Amino acid sequence: MREIIRAPHSGFCFGVKQAIEKAEREAEASENIIYSFGPLIHNSGVTDELEKKGVHIIESLDGITPGSKVIVRSHGIGKWFYDEADEKGITVIDATCPYVKRIHNLVAEAYKKGKTVVIVGDENHPEVKGINGWCEDSAIILSEPAEIKADDIFIVAQTTIRKDMFDSVVESIRKNNENVSVENTICSATSKRQEGCKQTAENVDVMLVIGDKKSSNTKKLYEIASKYCNNTFFVDDIGNLPLKEVEKYNRIGLAAGASTPENAIKEVTANMSENITREESMLDYMEEIEK
Ligand code: F3S
Repeated sequence: MREIIRAPHSGFCFGVKQAIEKAEREAEASENIIYSFGPLIHNSGVTDELEKKGVHIIESLDGITPGSKVIVRSHGIGKWFYDEADEKGITVIDATCPYVKRIHNLVAEAYKKGKTVVIVGDENHPEVKGINGWCEDSAIILSEPAEIKADDIFIVAQTTIRKDMFDSVVESIRKNNENVSVENTICSATSKRQEGCKQTAENVDVMLVIGDKKSSNTKKLYEIASKYCNNTFFVDDIGNLPLKEVEKYNRIGLAAGASTPENAIKEVTANMSENITREESMLDYMEEIEK
């Protein structure tokens, strides 16, 4: 019997889902085009669809006329953006993920109290740049353990980093400093998705990772799946579905990144449906093998 097993927690995370829904609602309600400051997610299928619905991507507020609406994506952005939009009479539609917004508030508060803010994460990631924008770009950004010294340190994490990386950086800072406060701001959506992908890959014959090749979290899932399943394929377009390969196997696993929409996952499933006798979730499957 051939089975399709979907990895738990695959697809849009809560923050991305609410940002897309907000953009769609606003575009529908608005007579004019609205803008998104940067692509809402790394999935060209979704951003192309949004463009058709009237959500146009911009990289700067230059030339945007007063009264226009600009969406802030789930990654969030620095305070400067809200100030500039306010000055220019632009309406901000804030789709910052609430978990990221919480970090902005924590950092702004710590900075106001005179603390030295440390962000553990990738200095080039838009989320980290956005967080830094709530302490006037004064944060020390670390992606590995380091020897730093300051009077009063406040540490937060980029939401998508690994916990062991966060812990090792915090430990290195604690070695040389006495006054250190820490907020673990890692979001569990990423680790749950990666763990679900791993568990599924370990238990199937072939694994399909669905998503855009520009999406770093989908690429990460592909790496994880490849490690635990030798027959792993990246499906960035339905035209690249390796049907001939997949049909050789009985247990087919599916995983999808945080920016992969539900219809892309369904499209892949539907394309294989002729050869599929049963669809079940990994959770059902795990229950079955535990019996
Ligand atoms: Fe938010 Fe976590 Fe997604 S921080 S954007 S729910 S990965």
